[in-house]
Amino acid sequence: MSLLRTKSVEQSLADADEPEYQLKKSLGALDLIVFGVGVVIGAGIFTLTGRAAHEVAGPSIVLSFVVAAVCCGLAAMCYAEFASSVPVSGSAYTFSYASLGELLAWIVGWDLLLEMFLGASVVAQGWSAYLGTFLSQVGWDIPEAVAYGGVVDLPAVVLILALGALISLGIKESMRVNLVLVGIKLFIVLFVIFAGIQYVSTANYDPFIPPAEPTESSSGLTQPLLQAMLGLEPAAFGVGGVFAGAALVFFAYIGFDVVATTAEETRNPKRDLPIGIIGSLAICTLLYCAVALVVTGMVPFDELSPEAALANAFEVHGQDWMATVISAGAVAGLTTVVLTLMIGASRVMFAMSRDHLLPPRLAKVHPTFRTPWVITAIVTAVCAVVAGFTPVGVLEEMVNIGTLSAFVLVSVGVIVLRRTRPDLPRAFRVPWVPVLPLLSAAICLYLALNLPVETWLRFVIWLAIGFAIYFLYSRKHSRVGREVGSAAPR
Ligand code: ALA
Repeated sequence: MSLLRTKSVEQSLADADEPEYQLKKSLGALDLIVFGVGVVIGAGIFTLTGRAAHEVAGPSIVLSFVVAAVCCGLAAMCYAEFASSVPVSGSAYTFSYASLGELLAWIVGWDLLLEMFLGASVVAQGWSAYLGTFLSQVGWDIPEAVAYGGVVDLPAVVLILALGALISLGIKESMRVNLVLVGIKLFIVLFVIFAGIQYVSTANYDPFIPPAEPTESSSGLTQPLLQAMLGLEPAAFGVGGVFAGAALVFFAYIGFDVVATTAEETRNPKRDLPIGIIGSLAICTLLYCAVALVVTGMVPFDELSPEAALANAFEVHGQDWMATVISAGAVAGLTTVVLTLMIGASRVMFAMSRDHLLPPRLAKVHPTFRTPWVITAIVTAVCAVVAGFTPVGVLEEMVNIGTLSAFVLVSVGVIVLRRTRPDLPRAFRVPWVPVLPLLSAAICLYLALNLPVETWLRFVIWLAIGFAIYFLYSRKHSRVGREVGSAAPR
């Protein structure tokens, strides 16, 4: 039964008030929206759009964006309800601890670490790739051995070390840098939309959903799990392509959930967290659909560059300087994604250590800067090594599966907490419970089934490592477990 032990909401709130673990409360609703947009818009829109349109969906990639947005919108509501009733660092991990019990909470935390550690490393490499493109556009080439795809991805390492230092200094400072970079990023995205519109040819939208065609590239381990389970012929495009595309571009939305990890640093979390989460998702959805429409209208989908579609679409029309501006903007824009995912990773680890599921010494807060500096150092080191020395750039789908599985559990958690703690004040309530949360879980699961078989295999290995740590360490040391143990009659 101990696997199902929960941590009460009151206990979570009380732990967050212990002086040695207290974070500085300085964020408001606007900060959170900026934070959300800062982490959401990134490698997904700058690179994946082209790849997904080119390989699986064609112009109907815009529908894939809508499907992924519906999925995220439902999950966002569940996150908002939780965040408004349990405003404690740790996001979905903390929510699950309050509703689904320790083992599932551990798994959610473990999934979130996968999302954020891997996400930060993947996007850092995307950043390095765009930096290389930008520098070569202005006539300066980084030596191959230390560039993106080289022996060591030096730009990615330098970026992560610099951001790690910034995060240790303080969250408000990080947010200021974030604000400037988010401004640049929004400008670039709007630039793509408005400068690109004049090159759109409606002929490129025909056929809007290209007919399904058999494909060599998606068979065996690279085919979607659903396709393998149902024994379907490997195919791309068609209606199936819209969903396969959605499972891929889901990556572009990842991050709005990270807003919930800053709950303890928000001045009025009950009001501001729902605004921050849902607001940033709404803004990004609009921008993404517009970018997807423009880009697939500018270039026939089978000629879209799978690597740097946004910049490339302008090159096709002879607008090289616009392509350079876009690459420069992408470099600025991707920085904030890495920054925010690193903050998210450190806050989830912080929450897990404070609960003693990871060693509690890690969660010490710096006396002057009031940031969890030990954890930040670990996050920085791990991300720097992974981004610097492994070919992690192609693992977006792993990030997706980690996030989707956390979404499924959070959605179920909303229903459970409504039953077990109907009395809790909830500043934001998901409408039509249990229908909407169930729908949310079902759509997340469906998208996850559209991910490749190899992604599932890697995910199963990741989970196995997580279970091993839980049963060998966390279960014995768990703070909730000890408190329950010492309170029980002997
Ligand atoms: N949503 C983030 C991106 O697209 C992770 O880079």
